Amino acid sequence: MSKFIIEGGVRLKGKVNIGGFKNAAVAIIPATILCPGKCILGNIPKIRDVNVFLEILRELGADADYLDNSSIYVDATNIKSCYLENGLSKKMRASYYVLGAGLGRFKRASTLMPGGCDIGERPIDQHIKGFEALGAKVEITPEGRINVQAEKLTGARIYLDVVSVGATINIMLAAVYAEGRTIIENAAKEPHIVDTANFLNAMGADIKGAGTDVIRINGVKELKGCTYKVIPDQIEAGTYMIAAAATKGDIIIDDIIPKHMEPITAKLKEMGMGIEEYGDSMRVYHYQELVPVNIKTLPYPGFPTDLQQPMTVLLSSLPGESTVVEGVSEDRFRYVEELKKMGACIEFTKRQAKIKGTDKLKGTVVQATDLRAGAALIIAGLIAEGLTEITNIQHIDRGYEHIENKFMNLGAKIKRVED
Ligand code: UD1
Repeated sequence: MSKFIIEGGVRLKGKVNIGGFKNAAVAIIPATILCPGKCILGNIPKIRDVNVFLEILRELGADADYLDNSSIYVDATNIKSCYLENGLSKKMRASYYVLGAGLGRFKRASTLMPGGCDIGERPIDQHIKGFEALGAKVEITPEGRINVQAEKLTGARIYLDVVSVGATINIMLAAVYAEGRTIIENAAKEPHIVDTANFLNAMGADIKGAGTDVIRINGVKELKGCTYKVIPDQIEAGTYMIAAAATKGDIIIDDIIPKHMEPITAKLKEMGMGIEEYGDSMRVYHYQELVPVNIKTLPYPGFPTDLQQPMTVLLSSLPGESTVVEGVSEDRFRYVEELKKMGACIEFTKRQAKIKGTDKLKGTVVQATDLRAGAALIIAGLIAEGLTEITNIQHIDRGYEHIENKFMNLGAKIKRVED
């Protein structure tokens, strides 16, 4: 078990390079299952979730590994079925994409109910609704195993009752080879939906409308291997933007798509941060006292739920009152108990936090309760007085590559200690 020790009080300064988008990589890697050929994927972040997916693919029979620090290859030719035997599916949420991809290629697949961050109820009824509309039978056993199978997949019109990233991607994967046209309405519009659709199209799929709330998929007969580069990580970039604001810093964030950052850029500007956009980079700088703002998380292009926790830390450090409403996840405020140990003054329910900001956060021992909560606690440690010790950092390693090195390059005093 490792932990982070952080000495607070440094204003971040310098440049940080953003890696490939975790949430796109963990959809695109299983999407390779659809193709009996070799794919080369670039801008892949070096994080635990990617390693777990490579293990899953190898277990299924694929030849898959890193080519270098940021690219991997997957040759799924020898996969014969998509039955995930062991608990690898429990290690992350995105393991459920094996269902859509397996159903698409083999007309059957089986995994355990997925794991991932514990942020409340995370049902998969919309995924199931989509698979069934395409002609599949879905069974969930008392042990939590999900079996999907179909004689034949036929295009269908599917209206999602809730805007779900996972369901939109899983239905796209299952529908790529379905006969005729599939239309997903009320689809999620996140950048990684577009990235996954672009990757599928690069392999020969026929998908239009990704990035809008209506996606049309015309079934094709075959896919071919391709080379593809994953988009930059919107959430990683947002985490550093918020860290710059919290530490009153001045940093350049490089290798990003500024358009994807708009929901965060808009809020930080409203608070008084300076933000200058260049082609694929951005300067985020503190030049005046920041004012608290209210936030409500929403599906893209709303403020992302994955940055709710870092933003709550920033708001906790600003004298004044603010409200954060969680409009996407069921129960994403549990980490607030940790933040309170550092002196934050927050009243919260499952869906709402009322914050009375204080500029007197104090370092202490806290634990990362999930991935983004872990990133938020790092930011809290950077601004707190004294030393902060963060345990359970394996959650952070699931989704942020070289996080302590990147913060150290910006001047932060953070070190990883093996227990
Ligand atoms: C993805 C992201 C996660 C992000 C979330 C919302 C990945 C690997 N993870 O998670 O980082 O926080 O999007 O942007 O990409 N829901 C249902 N039924 C369903 C599916 C979802 O009711 O069948 C509900 C969920 O409980 C949740 C909301 O819809 O409240 C959003 O879930 P969804 O967009 O599916 O999130 P994930 O794909 O799990």
